[in-house]
Amino acid sequence: MHRRNTATPDDRLAESFPACLFPSRYKLIVSGRRFRDIGTAETYALLLLAFLDTAGYAQRSQRKPPIDQFRGILERYLHCCRKFQRVRRAQQIELGTVDMRQGDARSLDIADASVDAIVFSPPYSFAIDYAENDAFHLAALGVDRVDLDNNMIGLRGSRRLADKYACYLDDMQCVLRECFRVLKPGCYCVIVIGTNSNQLSKILKVEADQVVGLHQILRTEAEAIGFRFSAQIARSIKGISNTMREEYILLLQRL
Ligand SMILES: C[S@@+](CC[C@H](N)C(=O)[O-])C[C@H]1O[C@@H](n2cnc3c(N)ncnc32)[C@H](O)[C@@H]1O
Repeated sequence: MHRRNTATPDDRLAESFPACLFPSRYKLIVSGRRFRDIGTAETYALLLLAFLDTAGYAQRSQRKPPIDQFRGILERYLHCCRKFQRVRRAQQIELGTVDMRQGDARSLDIADASVDAIVFSPPYSFAIDYAENDAFHLAALGVDRVDLDNNMIGLRGSRRLADKYACYLDDMQCVLRECFRVLKPGCYCVIVIGTNSNQLSKILKVEADQVVGLHQILRTEAEAIGFRFSAQIARSIKGISNTMREEYILLLQRL
């Protein structure tokens, strides 16, 4: 941590970490541990997040010793929190309450036509095995991996890629239907999705530049369900060009 002022790291943490991040019933319990006061629970949660984030980076890159990566990541979190608080104070924004729920996007426990906006990024088909990638984090948080392997979108299906892809399309159709059902008429659903052209070209046996990307496939599915396509924004992805080069932000409106 840089030491530019006389405040201790604890003072800075206490000042920058937004107390509103946890809904009240979770405030004193962080990943199974119970804390006596909210300040300690929130500090622990922030440090745990930085630690798990560091563990992920350390698996992918050995450029810096893990302790230096941890310091850098924690400093970035604190920088974001401070900036957020500065803007919030300057704009005199009152924060709303957060209702965090864990569930399956294919079957939402949310009433019909009750949501003002949806923003999400689904798996880019089976481009990333999230359960495998995050095995360390999941074990540290005590999460049952078998359940994830059987239910996560993109992981479901046999080892054959064509089978996984068929399951993915079925699952995403359910997700889009649920989004349509819970959105209020006239409101928007925003989806961030990578093209995944390279993997699709192998399954569909066409050249990668001839492949209809996942963004287009989801758009077509969404339109069939009743969404109106409103706009899309393309963005190139750096660093994983052997998997895919582009991702899109799709804006869909429920009529
Ligand atoms: C492209 S990532 C986006 C992650 C997150 N939006 C973010 O930006 O950090 C796709 C996420 O979809 C989640 N996912 C997979 N199957 C799901 C399901 N059935 N219901 C809800 N989320 C699921 C995965 O856990 C993964 O974190």
